[in-house]
Parts: sequence; C-alpha cells; structure tokens
Amino acid sequence: MQIENVWAREVLDSRGNPTVEAEITVKGHKIRAIAPSGASTGTWEALELRDGDKSRYGGKGVLKAVENVRGPIARALKGMDPADQEAIDRAMIELDGTENKSSLGGNAMVAVSLAAVRAGAMAEGVPVYEHVGGDHATMPVPMLNIINGGKHAGGNLKVQECMIIPAGAPSFSECLRISSEVYMSLKGILKDRYGVGAINIGDEGGFAPPVDTVDEALTTITDAVSAAGYVPGKDVFLAIDAASSEFFEDGVYFVDGLRLSAGELADHYVELTEDHPLISIEDPFFEDDFETTAELTRKVGGRVQIVGDDLFVTNSKRLSKGIACGAANALLLKVNQIGTITEAGEAAQMSFDSRYNVVVSHRSGESEDTTIADLSVGWGSGEIKTGAPARGERTAKYNRLLRIEEELGSKAKFPGVSKFRI
Ligand code: PGA
Ligand code: ZN
Repeated sequence: MQIENVWAREVLDSRGNPTVEAEITVKGHKIRAIAPSGASTGTWEALELRDGDKSRYGGKGVLKAVENVRGPIARALKGMDPADQEAIDRAMIELDGTENKSSLGGNAMVAVSLAAVRAGAMAEGVPVYEHVGGDHATMPVPMLNIINGGKHAGGNLKVQECMIIPAGAPSFSECLRISSEVYMSLKGILKDRYGVGAINIGDEGGFAPPVDTVDEALTTITDAVSAAGYVPGKDVFLAIDAASSEFFEDGVYFVDGLRLSAGELADHYVELTEDHPLISIEDPFFEDDFETTAELTRKVGGRVQIVGDDLFVTNSKRLSKGIACGAANALLLKVNQIGTITEAGEAAQMSFDSRYNVVVSHRSGESEDTTIADLSVGWGSGEIKTGAPARGERTAKYNRLLRIEEELGSKAKFPGVSKFRI
C-alpha cells in the first residue's frame, strides 16, 4: 500500500486559534489528524510555526505550516508505505534538518505524523492502538484536571492544574464514572462556598474558582471526593501540575501568596503531600532546574510521582540528562513537543527502560482528534492526562478509551494503584 496524497488545511483548536489539520490519502480514503497547541509551552519544545501576519488571526495563522505539508512534506511522503511510521517520520526529520523543527514547523510535522499512524492502522486493517502496540494493550489510569489555574484560567491560583486520579477503581470506565461524579460534586460545593461564578471553567474543562492557594483547591477537591461517596487516599488520589516556570521570576517562585526560594518551594510540596492524598507533582521547579527536581525526587520519590513536562519536553536528550541525575521519576509525553510519533516513542521506551512512568498527555489547546488515546493504550503507558471529564475535546479522548476498553474485553489490562508509589 502507498500514500497517494498528503494535504493540509487550517482548522480551529478548542481555544478558537488556528491549527494544522493533515490529511493523508490511502486507497482513496482520506485520514485526518489535528495538531494540538500548548499555552504554558516549554522553551525547548519543537517550534510551532505561526504566520505572524497580524491581518489574519492576530498573527496566529498557520498557512506557512499548511504550505509546508502541501509542498515539501507531500513530495517526500507520496509513494511511501503508510504502515512504516518510522520511515515517514525520519523523512520529515531529514527534510526539516533543524534541532527544533523550525523549518517545516513542529505543528506541520506532528499533524502529518499523527495522520500517518492513523493511515497506517487503516492500511493494516487494525485499530491504531494495535498498530502501534500489537498485543501490548493496557488501559491507562486517567488523571483528570478539575480545577484549572495558572495560564489556563483567569483567577489567582498560580498552580496550573489540580487533578484527581481515581486509581482505586477496578477499570478505566469505572475511573471515568467516579471522575464525573466527583466533578459534579465539586461543582455543587464550589457554588455553595464561592457563588455561581466559581463554576466557570478554564481551558481544560476544570472549574476556575476564586481560590488563592493550591492547599485550598486540594481541600475543596477532597471534600468533593468524600461528598460523592468515595474515600480520598483509597479510591481517589490527587495530583498537581505546578507548571512552575510560569510563576518563576529572577530566582524566586511567587505562588500561594508566598515568595519562595527553590528549597522553600520543595518544603512547601513536601507539606502538601503530608496534608493531602497527593501522589503526583508535575514540573515542581522551573524548566531547567534539574538539580532541585532531583533533590525533591530523592526526598519524596519513593511515595510520589514526580513528572517532567517542560523539564523534558518529550526529548530523549533532556530525558537522559534527567535520568542520569535522578530528576523526576516520570515523563509527561506530548507528541507535539518533539514533533513526531517515532521520537515520542523513543522517549517512552527510554522511560520504561529506566523505570520512569509515562503519562501520555493532551495540550491545553486541543481538538476532536483522539489519537493520543490509542497511543496510551498501544504503548502501555499506564497513565493518561487529558483534562476534565467534560468539554468535547477532552471527552473525545475519554470516550475513545471507553470504546477501546469494550473492544479489548477481558484482554484489557488495567494497572490501577500499582502504577503509583503508594
Ligand atoms: P499546555 O499545558 O498544553 O498549556 O502546555 C499542559 C501542561 O502543562 O501539562
Ligand atoms: Zn505540564
């Protein structure tokens, strides 16, 4: 089988910004995928190519990236085997020729890479998760972001994401049911305590209440878990993404109304893990601080998952530096941070080899595309983070996972609490 055509167009993401949709034709079928887009992006991510022409979308248009797909990428990929993901990705990497994908654009490349994995699966007549993983199917434990802060909301909460991990449930579908119930319970509590304005939502579908500190947010979520009839620390656990580069300035962290050094912030996190059933902390320190991240990992890594997002940017080079110094014990995997599925897969493999956990992740700017759901199952990552159990671009991934779980039937493995150091 051959790739007959490669095309692209500008479409909208969940924030209403333009993004790249790629379309690969195989056997007359047009297979599509859409590039996601971050707000709290890491400095070392693949470059998102934007037109800069202020007369369209305030400069955010992606017509240059679209042209790169229609022109050079299409010429390179036409005639290739759609099932050979690595050859497709390597062809794009070679054509781009830069360290950060700045020539073709990471957004152009990731849209094509995701469309290719879908086209490859179609050509082989198997679901995408099977195409990437064979028999290796594991349903992920979801991390659901139900209070949004930082760059994803308009309040005072500096920590970007407060999540629930219903890892005590026996299956993915039960996790999702519990999450929806806790989300609704939280909605009621927020309304009672802070008024109706508190149930407005942020970019990832979580509520954006007027809480000032992460401690207040986590306490409210714990109350919501109990009110929904679940036991915090047994059925449902908590996680945060501090995305701390966003509140780091001249060596100081401005968070929770405090002004903290890296060491003081580390103590702050330790206290949070003692006061709440908090089992996962993402990007605790700014994106180049491997040392303090390693210190915190040494201190609490035995019982807390420390996740590198902006720290590693799904880049094997940065990840290997982290592994060498013991910074974090989990990788946040975002395909668009590195630009291709092949490179993201290498980072996942490196993590597994070093006993680092892998959390497959969405971006705050998303779409109806569900490919990451299949990747999490096929790669057996064991964890996925894709927002609240609400809003179409988030539920698209969770709903896809429900379908996969049904399809796998008794073959569906589910790690539950065993994924965590509880
Ligand atoms: P982003 O946020 O997509 O805005 O970068 C998600 C995250 O930080 O995990
Ligand atoms: Zn993050």
